[in-house]
Amino acid sequence: TRHARLALLAGDGIGPEVMAVTDAILATLIRQHQLPVEVDNLPWPSHQWHQQHGEMMPADAVRTLRGYDGLLLGALGDPGPLDDPQRYLLSDSVSLAPLLTLRKELDLWACERPARWLPGTPCYLADPRARDVDMLVIRENSEGEYTGQGGRLRRGTADEVATQVEVFTAAATERLIRHAFERARQRAADRTEPRRFRGDKAAQVCLITKRNAQPHWGDLYTETFQRLAADYPEVDTHHELVDAACMKFVQCPWHFDVVVASNLHGDILTDLAAVLCGGPGLAPSANLNPQDDTIPALFEPVHGSAPDIAGQDLADPRATLLSLAMLLDWLGPRWPACQKAAQHLHDTVKADLADSDHHHTRATGERLNERLQSAPATTPERTRRS
Ligand code: IPM
Ligand code: MN
Repeated sequence: TRHARLALLAGDGIGPEVMAVTDAILATLIRQHQLPVEVDNLPWPSHQWHQQHGEMMPADAVRTLRGYDGLLLGALGDPGPLDDPQRYLLSDSVSLAPLLTLRKELDLWACERPARWLPGTPCYLADPRARDVDMLVIRENSEGEYTGQGGRLRRGTADEVATQVEVFTAAATERLIRHAFERARQRAADRTEPRRFRGDKAAQVCLITKRNAQPHWGDLYTETFQRLAADYPEVDTHHELVDAACMKFVQCPWHFDVVVASNLHGDILTDLAAVLCGGPGLAPSANLNPQDDTIPALFEPVHGSAPDIAGQDLADPRATLLSLAMLLDWLGPRWPACQKAAQHLHDTVKADLADSDHHHTRATGERLNERLQSAPATTPERTRRS
């Protein structure tokens, strides 16, 4: 079979720093596991490309990216001076647009953000059960609150009105919720230690809405959820309003398994879930199209470009490394060697977390790279990476 073609998109801010570490680690994995993988580093989308070409990425960027088998993004957002708020605000909206464009144009309608606490990770909750947190938030990635429609009427006057239109289609709701049930089933099958939810069920899906205040899409989500649940009798179903879910994520996050949420609710909940599992430096994510694995999935850390620490060798590269592990895992069905490399990388980050601290980007990268080479891959029972 042919080689897998991967594109690394370093982006802005801390993106190039965490990607340099990731690129070196990927080179080690390719060598060690003889991965049939070719890697290209792309200079866009980025603020630097914008400065040179007046746009964040070339006009044919999406077509170019479709030629790859998998994409890994560092971070996007203007790393420019924070002391010029006007410029920052204006360019920020420009420079974030490509991420939303890529998700939409590539039809990557599901965003998966696992939050699993790993030993050695900071734990900000006092209850020891917080170390059992193991959830997967599935975020709608194509519509909802992120349609960009609406506008500003009578702009700049005292009578100004800003509207922001939310759109929820039955088709996107159905595929999202079905995917959540499928993932819950799959996670239960993969677990080495079974979990038990209500009714002695082995998995759970929790639906998030704000149906008390936003009944139209809230009811569409609820009805779809109830209808599809009949196909998954082994999965416990649960619902939380998004505000109550925020409380419960802090009060008893160990109760959650798969959580399915709209685009904006999922965005907010995944920052909260990330901080339960050590913070933004450790949270990976996947944007994918579960119906079509020929569309290159886009993997990225949950964090942004962090302009406040960019260029200082302070960023934690491990969220990007865990995103790479998810990418290699996702390639596994078509390029089986990648599966083993994913496991090796995940195990190495996990072992390192348990006994080392992160202080500097490059030092963490070098330490992990050495560790990868000194602890060659074993084939233990498969541990889940999402
Ligand atoms: C994320 C980010 C983006 C989002 C921003 C940068 C538009 O917060 O990936 O979670 O809201 O989707
Ligand atoms: Mn976010």
